[in-house]
This record gives sequence, structure tokens and C-alpha cells, in this order.
Amino acid sequence: MSVSSIADKIVSESILIVDFGSQVTQLIARRVREAGVYSEIVPFNRAEEAFKRLQPKGIILSGSPASVVAEGSPRAPESFFKAGIPIFGICYGQQVMCQQLGGKVTANDVDGEFGRAFIDVIAPSPLFENLWQVGEKHQVWMSHADRVEALPEGFKPIAVSDGAPFALIADEKRHFYGMQFHPEVVHTPDGGKLIAHFVHEICGLAGDWTMAEFRQTKIAEIRKQVGKGRVICGLSGGVDSSVTAVLVHEAIGDQLTCVFVDHGLMRQGEAEQVVSLFREHYGIKLVHVNAEDRFLAGLKGVTDPETKRKFIGKAFIEIFEEEANKIGGADFLAQGTLYPDVIESVSFLGGPSVTIKSHHNVGGLPERMNMQLVEPLRELFKDEVRDLGRELGMPDVFVDRHPFPGPGLAIRIPGEVTKERCDILRKADAVYLEEIRNAGLYNAIWQAFAVLLPVRTVGVMGDGRTYDSVCALRAVTSTDGMTAEIYPFQPEFLANVATRIVNEVRGINRVTYDFTSKPPGTIEWE
Ligand code: XMP
Repeated sequence: MSVSSIADKIVSESILIVDFGSQVTQLIARRVREAGVYSEIVPFNRAEEAFKRLQPKGIILSGSPASVVAEGSPRAPESFFKAGIPIFGICYGQQVMCQQLGGKVTANDVDGEFGRAFIDVIAPSPLFENLWQVGEKHQVWMSHADRVEALPEGFKPIAVSDGAPFALIADEKRHFYGMQFHPEVVHTPDGGKLIAHFVHEICGLAGDWTMAEFRQTKIAEIRKQVGKGRVICGLSGGVDSSVTAVLVHEAIGDQLTCVFVDHGLMRQGEAEQVVSLFREHYGIKLVHVNAEDRFLAGLKGVTDPETKRKFIGKAFIEIFEEEANKIGGADFLAQGTLYPDVIESVSFLGGPSVTIKSHHNVGGLPERMNMQLVEPLRELFKDEVRDLGRELGMPDVFVDRHPFPGPGLAIRIPGEVTKERCDILRKADAVYLEEIRNAGLYNAIWQAFAVLLPVRTVGVMGDGRTYDSVCALRAVTSTDGMTAEIYPFQPEFLANVATRIVNEVRGINRVTYDFTSKPPGTIEWE
């Protein structure tokens, strides 16, 4: 299939998700994607223009913290209800649809339903054909105060709950469905299937959207956006920036220059891997800036975590800017912003306010250097970025790599950061990760690393006394880094890693394991 026909196909086979500001709108996109259908989330007050661009085959209206009956609360564009395509309203989305189509919603701040609830299926519907039968009870997740009191013409209830007589409603003729519960969260066990049914059976979409198509669409988009312009991309060695670079390179070849600011705070062998993969394997123009001395000089005597972070962030930007100027500047800055980084919070009175987490941005540079952003991964979740990396033929060692923070080892060395301490930590970290890989546990862990503590303790090796540093091992599972659980290693595994580190890494004579979850701890130590 040619690039343009693939792009056409996506445009003609998509679902538009209208965001009214729910905390879990992203999960709707996720479920639609899992059903093999392309979807985009747009704030409610930009939904009409997105509709024209995408020509979606179905619309999903999200939940919201707002109340439909409150003055100035958001509405769906009226035209959506006349477009002749299926609509699926979730919680607030159901209420707003009912209100706009002539039904009645009442405010209720006394006895809403929050948490697990059960619904009784009372009528058959194509929405859950071969999934739910009349008379069955199903677990769902509710989180609502207001509720629909009177249905608009053409609607009927198809499932009820104790707290919501209109838990699930349908206008089968117009293919409009509304539910008071949240099918997008995992606490509604059949929720994903319900959304899949909507996109496949009701909207008639094949569900054959793949990463291969995403790759081709993005390549077409990047070419269109960039034209003959020049693009610069900061590589960190992490998955997001690496996948961005390879994808952008595939689209525009030598118009892309990557800049790798090596701050000397990388893990063992990491800098070499980055240079060899990008320069030798992919033939990407790569400026490798060895700035170890500059960073270590700036970190001399610094022990406060925030001071370290601020210095590193600032130095990084300065060096990046210097290098960008040396190569004659660029029109675009490519960066690996992911979907969870793009927080589009919807404000009900003004327009939607867009906040983007700053740590992914090469802060302030785009404006200062008059560059536009190229962010081809904006719609993807981390595991989808990994799939795309594999699709692009990138080696597993890059694609599956644990996240690594921008300030690098500096925030894993509480106290002063010196080259000597970085080297000690690199060795201990490499032993730990090697053991994790050998045990086949690497991909079961979100992040694992060693921390070098500014504490010395007494030990005995051979016949001699030692007085050396303590190393702490950290390993956590997580889905997004926002919360984390410790990884429950077998004690024998940890004992073996401790023995190897103490024997092989001069400067460490004691190893501990960090048992703190997040919250109350953070993943990194600083
Ligand atoms: P914390 O320590 O806040 O970390 O629990 C959550 C996740 O974010 C990563 N992290 C960073 N990533 N720049 C980054 O790109 C940073 O400054 C930074 N600080 C923390 C951390 O490794 C974990 O995955």
C-alpha cells in the first residue's frame, strides 16, 4: 500500500474521542487502539475541526469532573448528533448526550455511586451481542454524582444498576449508546470488550490498524510538516528519543542531525552504544559532544539534589544550543514526547489549556531558536513506542531499555558527584543489570539500578579490614512511573548480586536493597 493510501485509510477508519476533562480519557484511546483502530483525543472545544480533518467512523464522548447542569459546563458540538455516525457516551458523555438531545439530567451531591457496582442486563443489544445476555449481572466501575432522569426520544435502557436506572442506554436506530459507568478502566472487567464491540460491530471498523501503518502515516506527516527544512534531535540514549530519531531519519534522511550531549553521567557502555547504533548502523548524522569535564566541573562540591538537577538541565541546554548553532541552526526540533506527557487539561470557562511536562522538552529552546516541534510519538504510550521501535528494526537492547533520567547517575550518587564515584557506580550497576538479564527478569521490571551512598561502613575481606561505600539496589514495577511497587527478588538472587558487587567493585563493601514503594518514596533517590 502506498503511503498516501495508508494515510487515507487511517483518516477514513478512525474514532474521535471528545475529551471533557476526565482523568482517564487516555485509557479510552488505549482501549480503542487495543481493538486495532486508530483514535485521537481532542478537547471538546476543538472537536469540530478535528472531525472535519479525521472524518471519523464513530465518536466517543468522555467523562468529566464537571456537572452537566452547571452553568457553562462543556457540550458536544450539536453537529455530531446529526452526522449519522455512532456515538458512545461515557458517564458525563452519556449525560451530555441526553441533555443535548432533550432528556433530563439531575444534579446529585448526596448519594452518587463510586467504585465497584453491578449492572443487570435487561434488553438485548448489538453493543454486547455474544458478550452479555439478558438476565446476567456484570461488574462495572462507577464514579458519578449526577444522573440521567429522563431519556431523550428514541432511547431505552438496556442495563440498570441500583444507583442508576439508566446505567446503559441505547438508541439502536441512530446507534447512540450511553453508559453511566466507565468501561475504559480495568475495574470494569468487560469494558475493553464493550469498547471493541462498539468500534467493530457498531462502527463497522475492521480493526486492522497496525504499527506498520502508524510508521507509514507518521513518515508521510513528517515529510509534509518538514518539507525541505532542517531538523535537529537531542538523543539521550533512551527509548523515546531513539525511536523518534530513527523514525524522523527514515522520513527525511540527511535533513536530520542528532546531537548527543554525553554528560559523563551515563551507564556503562551506553555512550558507545548510542554512537555505534546511530552513526554506524543507521548512518544518521550525529554530533557526539563529550562534555564530561564540563559537567563534572560544574557539579564539583554540589550536594543538594535540586542544585544538581538545575545545573545539569541548564548546562545541557547551553551545550545543545551551542552545537545547534555550530551546524547552522535548524527549523525544527524533534523530540520524543509521549502521550502521557501531553496533558491537555480542559478548562470549562476559557479554552483548553495545554500543559506539557517540561522534562521532555529541551526547555525554552524551540522559542529561543525559533524552531517548530516535530513530535511523532505524541499519540503513543510507552509500550507502543517500544512496538514502533521493533517495527523500525531497532535492537532489543534499545527498545526494551529501562527508563533513565536526564540527570543520569548524578541523582543516583547522593552527595558530591565525582568521576571516581561515577566509575564505581557504573561497575556496580552493570553487575546488577547483568544478573537481572541472566535471570530473565529484565523485562519484568520497570526500572532497576544501583545507587552509591555517601556512607562508609566497616567490612572484612580476606584478613583485612575494609572501610568503603555502601551501595543500594533499587528495582520497581510500574506502568507509568507515577506509582511503583518494589520488585520482590528472591533473597538468594540479591545475596548473589551483593557478593559479586563487593568482590568485583573496588570501593563498595556493603550492599542493601531498597524496599520503599512510590509513594511514599520516589523511584530515583534524588
Ligand atoms: P521519580 O524519581 O520522580 O521518577 O519517582 C519517576 C520516573 O521519572 C524518571 N525521572 C526522570 N526522567 N528526567 C527524566 O527524563 C528527569 O529529570 C527525571 N527524574 C526522574 C525516573 O527515572 C522514573 O522513571
